[in-house]
This record gives sequence, structure tokens and C-alpha cells, in this order.
Amino acid sequence: KVLILDFGSQVTQLIARRVREAQVYCEIHPNDVSDDFIKAFMPKAIILSGSHASTYEDHELRAPAQVWQQGVPVLGICYGMQTMAVQLGGQVSWSDHREFGYAEVRAHGHTQLLSGIEDFATPEGHGMLKVWMSHGDKVSALPPGFKLMASTPSCPIAGMADESRHFYAVQFHPEVTHTLKGEAMLRRFVRDIAGCQGDWQMGSYIDEAVAKIREQVGDEEVILGLSGGVDSSVAAALIHRAIGDQLTCVFVDHGLLRLNEGDAVMEMFEGKLHAHVVRVDASELFLKELAGVTDPEQKRKIIGRLFVDVFKAEAEKLKAGDRGHKGAKWLAQGTIYPDVVESGGTKTKKATTIKSHHNVGGLPEQLGLKLLEPLRELFKDEVRALGVALGLPAEMVYRHPFPGPGLGVRILGEVKKEYADLLRRADAIFIEELRGWKDEATGKSWYELTSQAFTVFLPVKSVGVMGDGRTYDYVVALRAVQTSDFMTADWAELPYGLLKKVSGRIINEVRGINRVTYDVSSKPPATIEWE
Ligand code: XMP
Repeated sequence: KVLILDFGSQVTQLIARRVREAQVYCEIHPNDVSDDFIKAFMPKAIILSGSHASTYEDHELRAPAQVWQQGVPVLGICYGMQTMAVQLGGQVSWSDHREFGYAEVRAHGHTQLLSGIEDFATPEGHGMLKVWMSHGDKVSALPPGFKLMASTPSCPIAGMADESRHFYAVQFHPEVTHTLKGEAMLRRFVRDIAGCQGDWQMGSYIDEAVAKIREQVGDEEVILGLSGGVDSSVAAALIHRAIGDQLTCVFVDHGLLRLNEGDAVMEMFEGKLHAHVVRVDASELFLKELAGVTDPEQKRKIIGRLFVDVFKAEAEKLKAGDRGHKGAKWLAQGTIYPDVVESGGTKTKKATTIKSHHNVGGLPEQLGLKLLEPLRELFKDEVRALGVALGLPAEMVYRHPFPGPGLGVRILGEVKKEYADLLRRADAIFIEELRGWKDEATGKSWYELTSQAFTVFLPVKSVGVMGDGRTYDYVVALRAVQTSDFMTADWAELPYGLLKKVSGRIINEVRGINRVTYDVSSKPPATIEWE
């Protein structure tokens, strides 16, 4: 296994991810672990991460001496390279001026790490790499025994190696995707240089995660808020695998779910997995509190508040130990790594709130429960792979995101049961057709080719004609977008034939809707959801 020592970089988890992609097991630990810890860990290789910008002033951050004595390959990245240089007798020139960004690095000599790995060659035949670099502080003199491995005009020592000891270091970041060959470099390091087998898979992750959850929780009971979304579903399936009946899922049905969604969640978790699920039908309460409210932010706040109230009331009961239970001590959440970064790691704060999101942060403290977050280190696609490995249906694991406030933000203005019922039926038709309509060029369905697709209910009526009669009914809008990060998005160029079929079916099958429109706005300036 590989030991990653974290000096506080925001992208340390990406190093772990790349190592996992090379099918090698790794663990991240703080940079100041003891020498004994390293000996006991028995790593096959050690990777030293970069560091957060603010700790650059803290030149005292060092790797434990044992790192250099363990006799295994070491890779230093960015700050990790600098500390390697300083600790092994080289020099670093510190500066308060830093540069981030794309760079082209020339690879020197033929180190095992970079040999044969290049993005292009110069006319003189030098191998060049396209990388993501951050420097300011930089290594200015090689430590004894090291040779130059890479350089750029502004960073003459951008990589160094002592191949007799298998020590390698790079100033750039191989773990980020902007470094095109980064994955290949990390793979070369852990597989070829360190000789790790490459037999680690999601299946082994399950075993490790299960063991960890059992150790953490012991014989205590756990509550989990199940929403039917990917993250909470995978967390529930994983925790259930680990502790079975010690887990109780609470599924708050706010009445703003999609067609049959609540039943499908129950069938999967109670029916198939035999997990304890408490379904709380709170739809009447939500509809009552939303009556007469038209302002989107106010609607979001009401839904968020009620959700927390209902969940808390149920959790309090479970904590007190009803239904033959002795009382829960833990609250589990499906927090994944990007959530961790978003809620604390990053320095930037959004200047204005565009939309207030459903937020259940702070609940564990309020409830006096310990927090269990088994997906905290995983990225979304890894969570999906884990879900499949746990036996969840692909349809559930690869579904589009669904916002916490549900149909509440897809019914414009006041939320009414009548509107929700119409919307649910129209939306189900749209999604069914998207799943069924294959793109010839790629063989993929349009559900797979879009990142998010749904129907929006417009509480306005328009005139139509059906048979011999006049209709005066509601309008819906179809929305389908393509995006990689949901921060910006393009409207999807759905085939006309597909749009035609969807509109025909909705108008014929959903009495009460006589007009279907397609939303051709990109984000920005529009947002993905309409409210
Ligand atoms: P917008 O509409 O801001 O949406 O472009 C970006 C993404 O966020 C989702 N979204 C939410 N997700 N709680 C959530 O969990 C919310 O309150 C919420 N509001 C928007 C939206 O569906 C899209 O994927």
C-alpha cells in the first residue's frame, strides 16, 4: 500500500484518486505522523503532497525523517519536492510571488519516472510535457546525489531525481487533469517504480470501508437520512452492509418527489436490501406551509426548514430508542469529497447567494449525535462505481441530480398538489422517452447524453384545440442541459423527433396540459432550475 503524507494541499485527495485509478491501495495521513507510524504502516511507496497556499510561509512543515530511511520510493509533489530538497541538503529560494497555471516542461535525461512519457517533442527532439504548475518558491540547488529531471524557463529545476534511492520530485501537479500525462506518471511511480500489484478494486474498497465502519460504530446504532439520491443511497447500502440492523434510514417524503419515487426507494431499501426504513409522509405539512407562497427563496427556505424539522423529530425518537431500539448514537451522511471542499476547504466565498441550498450541516451537533461519513474521500464517479459494486441498480446510481427542494422549485410560483400531480406525469413521460431514444452515432440514450433533464410546470393557461373542442390548459417546459460541473451549462440539442414524441405524448396523456415548450437558455445567464 501507498502512504500519502498530506501537507495541506486542496488536491491531495486527487493524488489518492489517481493512485486508486492505478488499482493500488493508498491512505492519506497528516505530514507530521511519527517515525514509528511509518514503520508500522510498511508502505511500498510514499508520496508527499503539495501544500495550501497559506502554509507556504510556514517553512517549518517537514516530512518525518523516517520517510528517507524507510528504503522505499518517494515522490514529492510541489511543496513535497521543496521539503525533499531542503531535508536532503539542497536549497529552496522562497518568494512571496507565486504563479499558477499551464506550463510546458522539458523532460531531461531518461529517468524511470518520465521515460517514454511526453505530450510532444521539440524540433531538437526534447520530450515536452503539458502540466499544471504552481511555483514561486522553488528549488534552487539540487541535493547531493540528485539529477535534473525537468525544467521550464522560469523554473529551472522543475523536477529532480535520485534514482539510486528511487526519490523523485516534481514542482508541477501530476494529480490534476490539466497535467495531461499526470495519471500515467503516478501510475508509473506506484506500479513500475514501487512495484505495487494493481489488484485493488472497488470490491476491496467495500471490505475496507465495512471494516472501518464496524470499528468506528461498534455495537451502537446509526440513523441516516435517505433521500433517494445517489450519495445517500450508496451510503445507506454501504453502512447496511457493515452493520445491518444497527442502521435505521429515515426517508422524509415531502410530497415533491417524482412519479413513484417514494415507492421505488422503499422497494429498493426495504424490499431488496432488507434495511430498516422509516418513511415519513409529510406531504400535507409541506403543502400546507407552502400554500400562498410564491417567492422562490421563501419557498426554498420553507422546504429546507420543514425538512430539517421533520427529520429532527424522527431522529429524536430514534435517539430516545423507540421501536425496540436502544437509541441511536450516530448520524450518517452521504457527504462526498467535493462537498467537503465546497463547505470548508476553499477560500473563495460567493459574493451573492443565487439560490439558497438545502443544507443539513450542523444537524449532528444539534442532535447530539456523532457523525459518520463513509464516502468523504470519494469522488462522484467513484461513489457510483461503489454503488454498482454494492448491488444498487445502475438506473439509480447513474441518475441525474435532483434538487433537495424537489418539484417545489420546478412548479413556478405557488405549489399546489394539482400542479405537482400534473408535473409528475409529464416529467415521467419526458424521462422515459429520453431513456428510450438512442443516439445513432454513440449508441447512448439521450438520458445518458444529457447531464440533467426535467420538466417545469408553468401556472399559466393557453388556448388549444383537441378534437372539435377548445381547451384552456396549463403549459410545461422541457429542460435538458449538458454540463460537466453544473456551474455553466448548455441547453441540449435534443433531436426534433424526440421532442415531437414527448410533446405529443404529454398533451395526449396528461389531461390538463395542452402546450409543451423547450427551454433554449444556457447557464449563465439562466440557471438550470427555473427557481
Ligand atoms: P442551478 O439551478 O443553480 O442548479 O443552475 C445547479 C445544480 O444544483 C441543483 N440544485 C440543488 N441541489 N439542493 C440541491 O441539492 C438545492 O436546493 C438545489 N437547487 C439547485 C440543480 O438541480 C442543478 O443540478
